[in-house]
Amino acid sequence: MTAVDESGTVDDTPRDPDAVSITINGRTVEARRGEWIIAAADRTDEYIPRFCYHPRMSSVGMCRQCLVEVEGPRGPMMVVSCMTPVAEGQVVRTDTPQVKRAQEGMIELLLANHPLDCPVCDKGGECPLQDQAFSHGAGESRFVEEKRHYEKPIPISDLVQLDRERCILCDRCTRFADEVAGDALIHFVQRGNNTQVLTFPGEPFASHFSGNTVQICPVGALTATPYRFKARPWDLEQQESTCTTCSVGCRTVVQSSRDEVVRVLGVDSEPVNHGWLCDRGRFDFQATGADARVEQPLIARDGELVETTWAAALEATARAMRMAAPGSIAVLGGARGTNEDAFLWARLADALGVTMRDAQLDDGLPASVLALASATIADACGASTVIMLAPDVKEELPVLHLRLRDAALRGGTRIVEITSHDTGLTPIAWRSVTCEPGGQRTAVEGLLADPEVAAQLASGPVVVVAGRPNLAESAGNVMSALDAVLASVPSATVLPVLRRGNVRGALALGLAPRGGVDAARILAEAALGRVECLVLLGADPLADVPDADLARRGLAGARYVVAVDTFLTSSSSRADVVLPAAGWAEKDGTTTNLEGRVTGVSRRVVARGTSRPDWMIAAELLSLLGHDSGITSLDDVRALMTASVTGWAGILSAAAPGSDGEMLTVAPDAVREQPVAVPPRNSYEFRVVMSRRLWDRAVRTSHSPALAGLAGEPGMWIHPGDLERIGTPAGAAVRVTNAHGSAVVRVSPSTAVPRGCALVPFNLGDPDLRDLVRRVDPVTDVRIESI
Ligand code: SF4
Ligand code: SF4
Ligand code: FES
Repeated sequence: MTAVDESGTVDDTPRDPDAVSITINGRTVEARRGEWIIAAADRTDEYIPRFCYHPRMSSVGMCRQCLVEVEGPRGPMMVVSCMTPVAEGQVVRTDTPQVKRAQEGMIELLLANHPLDCPVCDKGGECPLQDQAFSHGAGESRFVEEKRHYEKPIPISDLVQLDRERCILCDRCTRFADEVAGDALIHFVQRGNNTQVLTFPGEPFASHFSGNTVQICPVGALTATPYRFKARPWDLEQQESTCTTCSVGCRTVVQSSRDEVVRVLGVDSEPVNHGWLCDRGRFDFQATGADARVEQPLIARDGELVETTWAAALEATARAMRMAAPGSIAVLGGARGTNEDAFLWARLADALGVTMRDAQLDDGLPASVLALASATIADACGASTVIMLAPDVKEELPVLHLRLRDAALRGGTRIVEITSHDTGLTPIAWRSVTCEPGGQRTAVEGLLADPEVAAQLASGPVVVVAGRPNLAESAGNVMSALDAVLASVPSATVLPVLRRGNVRGALALGLAPRGGVDAARILAEAALGRVECLVLLGADPLADVPDADLARRGLAGARYVVAVDTFLTSSSSRADVVLPAAGWAEKDGTTTNLEGRVTGVSRRVVARGTSRPDWMIAAELLSLLGHDSGITSLDDVRALMTASVTGWAGILSAAAPGSDGEMLTVAPDAVREQPVAVPPRNSYEFRVVMSRRLWDRAVRTSHSPALAGLAGEPGMWIHPGDLERIGTPAGAAVRVTNAHGSAVVRVSPSTAVPRGCALVPFNLGDPDLRDLVRRVDPVTDVRIESI
């Protein structure tokens, strides 16, 4: 359209057909067709009060608090602004006496039954109902009747408590559970005046995402058990940060009171988490303040770890490094720290000529996956097809699951899944192909030969989400299937879903294996006595390496073991020296998420005991070993990074609090392993699928009192038909055997597992079926016998 302004100047710029111009209280506001009035008003300083509206969920118009006036052909009309779309030339008023009276009336009705709990309610001081009663309420009520009473509070899960009488029936928690999380475990029950929010009888609110309902509840009806009566908003100090419990890298705000982290809230980051957090990332802050933290350096004397000074511990470490024969030092780990930590440890490794280094523990994919054409989370959510060659992201990278779920249900992305058991995405996948471990490539080839799938892949961008779905089979099986996809769809990009918090940053900044010597090779070398000093950088190979026997032999064979850790784990408790590391919320720095996005992590509390950031420990060792780096502060590390990492200055400034960060595009130069041929399965045997669940015995989870009890018991799940075939009742113990050993474990039926496969959750304690896994085997086959 051509527009001519008052001066007669012709504006030829083509008008966006979706652009809409409205006025709010006399001011012109640009909006988009289909947008709600309340959303357009949020871009101005006109605040429309609301309780039920949430920009990341559908509008339901439950609370009627957002009433405004819109000019119509018959004069002004009262409408709910969260369900009324903008229209060209629309005239909106949010400040007329009529609007004010209507809003006051709604508040009065909401308060008719709302208890006077403010002094004892966790929401007090940050409660939208409290705030809006003051800003948009009448100041007094005409209701004198007895208020409604319910038993309170009732725990609806291990993490969430419900005070029903505080509920204003806004439908936010129920909508979140249904629309966003897909776990509709919380619902409205009863009718009319008795309507209440509740869980189903006998079914707790056992969602991986329950903490989000607490955060979005506009009153104190839902409260988080770990935060109840802990602090008040005016006691809190807070800082923006990034969750590093997994590699999604959700943006958070960390709140502390009296030098203790007491709460973590989600921050809305458009490219990453949309404001959501999973319960593990939200509540495992408790580990930061756990009593079991290592607070002083420890050194082994007469078979026991005893406290020592930093000077003595560092000197012992430096001595072990000095005395080690050339090429006999190894560094494992680094993915739990910051980019700055990884960078300086890589510098130390360079100075010592260390080639044996790996930030993964043989439980991810070869680092070469980071060199493939890379996709972001937004690319995946905007793709027409997402191919999942990955673990169950609902269990391992929960907020990525929420993003992919949203893309599939609301964005039109089609999910094609190749998996060895049903996952959280299976019910909404366009195609879900189940295959035995080792059968991924054949399954992919079959899919690609399907004309309907081929047409779908040709219809728009394709993103492959690639990770390690099964720790009891070689990573080569997934890489081989990935190769098949990329050969057929060369334009496809890859979103690597390596799991640990900063694994991508650590690999890219110098802790990737050199010349193919990865964690498994390092442990094999150690087992042969060829590693004289093994550094465990926040790594626990005894718990995390899938081949437990290899990990045990490696650790036993390493001559001197140095652990830089926050807790004594199964591995660090066997070290010769333990250097206490500052943990999450105790140090500043940056982290890199799974897509390569670098964001900031912040120090909110003083580090426990004498613990220090990993980079500081590396700097001290550098100087003790005669490689004086001149580094005494984080700024020095950053200056060095700016000088040596392409684009680091820009990346660093984009990682400031409040920012969504920029991409680190450096990729490790890693060797690609050739996959090993997978033998056919003997029909008497079962092929093991060992995968992670959200709740396991991970270090921070186990040291968070609210979460420690959520890890289930170890066990094995097979198809009900297979259970019948081996003649074992559900829940009975069976003997599981292969050439490497045997274990006794409880077996249960599950239709989520295909026939011939046995699903075993990882890291749930003894019996630990990792004893039957060997690195050299492309798959793990076992015999299951009733006993
Ligand atoms: Fe809304 Fe909270 Fe009630 Fe849920 S519990 S309906 S979020 S007020
Ligand atoms: Fe933290 Fe990952 Fe959970 Fe996000 S999805 S809150 S990064 S653990
Ligand atoms: Fe519009 Fe609740 S915010 S009806």
